[in-house]
Amino acid sequence: MALVTTTEMFKKAYDGGYAVGAFNVNNMEIVQGITEAAGELKSPVILQVSKGARAYANHTYLVKLVEAAVIENPEIPIALHLDHGDTFELCKSCIDGGFTSVMIDASSKSFEENIALTKQVVEYAHDHGVVVEAELGTLAGIEDEVVVEAGHESYTRPEEVEEFVSRTGCDSLAIAIGTSHGAYKFTAAQCTRNADGILVPPPLRFDVLEECIKRLPGFPIVLHGSSSVPQEFVKMVNQYGGNMPDAVGIPEEQLRKAATLAVCKINIDSDIRLAMTGNIRKYFAEHPDHFDPRQYLKPARQAVKDMVAHKIQYVLGSDGKA
Ligand code: G3H
Ligand code: 13P
Ligand code: ZN
Repeated sequence: MALVTTTEMFKKAYDGGYAVGAFNVNNMEIVQGITEAAGELKSPVILQVSKGARAYANHTYLVKLVEAAVIENPEIPIALHLDHGDTFELCKSCIDGGFTSVMIDASSKSFEENIALTKQVVEYAHDHGVVVEAELGTLAGIEDEVVVEAGHESYTRPEEVEEFVSRTGCDSLAIAIGTSHGAYKFTAAQCTRNADGILVPPPLRFDVLEECIKRLPGFPIVLHGSSSVPQEFVKMVNQYGGNMPDAVGIPEEQLRKAATLAVCKINIDSDIRLAMTGNIRKYFAEHPDHFDPRQYLKPARQAVKDMVAHKIQYVLGSDGKA
């Protein structure tokens, strides 16, 4: 199977009550960990590349790594997506350079400016057989250079979604319902604490999601900032020399519920970073004399694979849906 767009994936996910995982890729081990899990579980998967990933690893290297994953996993649909494109030129460069899907994120602009830029990208993308994700509402957290402090995010306004989608022609819409980028999604003041002293975040705004679904029946919704920040990895990081106090994510059961509704794409990056970092720290602590990158990247890649397999089966519900 060649690289695919997300059109068919989302239609099946919407009808089947599951979501497709969109995982950020920055190097070979990450691409391999994700696609080995998806391949073994016969799950569709979206590999997404941010502007920062392109700056780090180079567009061509990333495209060729993803093409290699397609060859190695011929039985599953794989889409290659630009995450948080912020200009027409960046989107065009990815459309021209082999991506099957792009996100234009003009969510920090005014409603009219967001529409104008999204529409421009949609026209170019659709002429080239590529699909477009857009965003309405602002998530808290850090993405590339944009930092939005917790408490300064704004939920998507459901009364705007129909006009936005019909005027732009976008193929999917990312909305803000309380998820947030990074490993520190909520301040302690926004949370309560459980008996173990771990922060318990406020629930996602399912009322906002339901309102959006009512106004956009059958239309695929996307959730960014959907890492769960597994406490086993946070503990591992902290136990082996790291310092990540109060790192907290979105509870898995809330993401599972979103996946059964109209949410067809769930974005995960921070959990990959945590899985790798925790395991590399552990490896270094236990083998202070080792210096071959293959030795410490092997358990890191395996941890990404195990984490993605867990998401596919217990959060996304996309196993067996290839
Ligand atoms: O939403 C942002 C993603 O986690 C990508 O992060 O821009 O640091 O590559 P990055
Ligand atoms: P996390 O930081 O929660 O992994 O979100 C990633 C994301 O939304 C990428 O676009
Ligand atoms: Zn995002």
